[in-house]
Amino acid sequence: MWDYREFIDEILIPEETLQARIKELGAQISRDYQDKNPLLVCILRGGVLFLTDLMRAIHIPHAIEFMAVSSYGIGGRSSAGQVRINLDLNTDVSEWDVLLVEDIIDSGHTLSHILDLLSIRSPRSLKVCTLLDKWERREVEIPVDYVGFKIPNKFVFGYGLDIDNYYRNLPFVGTVDLEKYQALQAKS
Ligand code: IMP
Ligand code: MG
Repeated sequence: MWDYREFIDEILIPEETLQARIKELGAQISRDYQDKNPLLVCILRGGVLFLTDLMRAIHIPHAIEFMAVSSYGIGGRSSAGQVRINLDLNTDVSEWDVLLVEDIIDSGHTLSHILDLLSIRSPRSLKVCTLLDKWERREVEIPVDYVGFKIPNKFVFGYGLDIDNYYRNLPFVGTVDLEKYQALQAKS
């Protein structure tokens, strides 16, 4: 696979900016959930770097859980169709204040399905924390309680977000130069 420098357009959010904002979010969540019983539910795989930094920025007792879903859209990258649970929670959420931890909200379809699935299990409360919000692309209205950064409608990678499953490890969020990326694909 290629070095990201061969196709990056720009570093949209540098590591220091990400970490500083996550510290703020953690402080805010610590205040808001002081008298609650928080369960952070990470949506695999994109949310995993965000979760591990966010939980270290939260200074009150809390638990974590993981969920994995796949979206079946009407072709391509769309997620307008149904969502299948590939990994479900092992916790009875009725005892917990659930905070969903997502990497990015795009159309909103994936999260909307997950919120439907979880709300019928009657958690004490159910809220959403996303690192990135590609708000211009929203197709379904969903309540988002905590947002790290609002970003423009560009394909991004790094800090949990992948391109064909690679580049999740990068400590920053970058945008893709699609022409360069497609040229690399055509050569291989
Ligand atoms: P939605 O259902 O359209 O909101 O899609 C959300 C999911 O699509 C995210 O959890 C990501 O896995 C993926 N996604 C959306 N935009 C991007 C992007 O710019 N880069 C990488 N993955 C993305
Ligand atoms: Mg994802």
